[in-house]
Amino acid sequence: YKRVTVKSLVEMKKNGEKISMLTAYDYTMAKIVDSAGTDVILVGDSASNVMAGHETTLPITLDQMIYHASSVVRAIDRSLVVVDLPFGSYQSDPKEALRSAIRIMKESGGHAVKMEGGKEVKDSIKRILHAGIPVMGHLGLTPQSIYKFGTYTVRAKEEQEAKQLKDDALMLEKAGCFALVLEKIPAKLAQEVAESVSIPVIGIGAGNGVDGQVLVTHDMIGMTHEFNPRFLRRYMNLYEDMTNAFIQYGKDVKSGNFPSDKEQY
Ligand code: KIV
Ligand code: NA
Repeated sequence: YKRVTVKSLVEMKKNGEKISMLTAYDYTMAKIVDSAGTDVILVGDSASNVMAGHETTLPITLDQMIYHASSVVRAIDRSLVVVDLPFGSYQSDPKEALRSAIRIMKESGGHAVKMEGGKEVKDSIKRILHAGIPVMGHLGLTPQSIYKFGTYTVRAKEEQEAKQLKDDALMLEKAGCFALVLEKIPAKLAQEVAESVSIPVIGIGAGNGVDGQVLVTHDMIGMTHEFNPRFLRRYMNLYEDMTNAFIQYGKDVKSGNFPSDKEQY
């Protein structure tokens, strides 16, 4: 294997090779995702929903993100590990943003940070980049702003928001971001953005005209089952399989079938 770097991702875009990205929040899952050859592992603040059971991504803390990220980093041989800056750790001012990004890099060993937003976070992104920390941008349906949006429906369907998103994407490229996530926007707009910047654009619910795709691993393996957006392809139905396994285990314990003679000392 050869380690994926921020440089190799830009090369992949140049060569027309699509980028695969999945989330992981713990060692065991990250080991499987990495060994399957996934290019980028995102320690997403979706851990707030998936791991902690919160309704939004807002409650997860920087300390909790560092715990998840350090567990993931210990599992990695090849994938690039990108860590979300959680809500409240970078919005106040560039100094705070840099401090948070430095904590992630030092304490988790992650390779890059991701932050949501366009021009509002421009100064913070520049400050972090100046410290030598690679930054991935994130535009469109940015879940940390869910209370501003009021809904999880598709973003940037109207002219004005689409124009702002395009401007923000160009700004992020110019500022020096190595890649950009576009979440839940029209496929046509996402393709236009991908064609207008030289950095890789990774989509989730943003169609097939972009440079790569990301999904939340627990969703794509069907461990979660209440979240059913159109963009989600389920590759397994683990919720069902695991439920059946737990039911069978319970039966085997109660009937005395488990453990057998061979399963004891
Ligand atoms: O937190 C997350 O999982 C994300 C991806 C969905 C892009 O930000
Ligand atoms: Na996120």
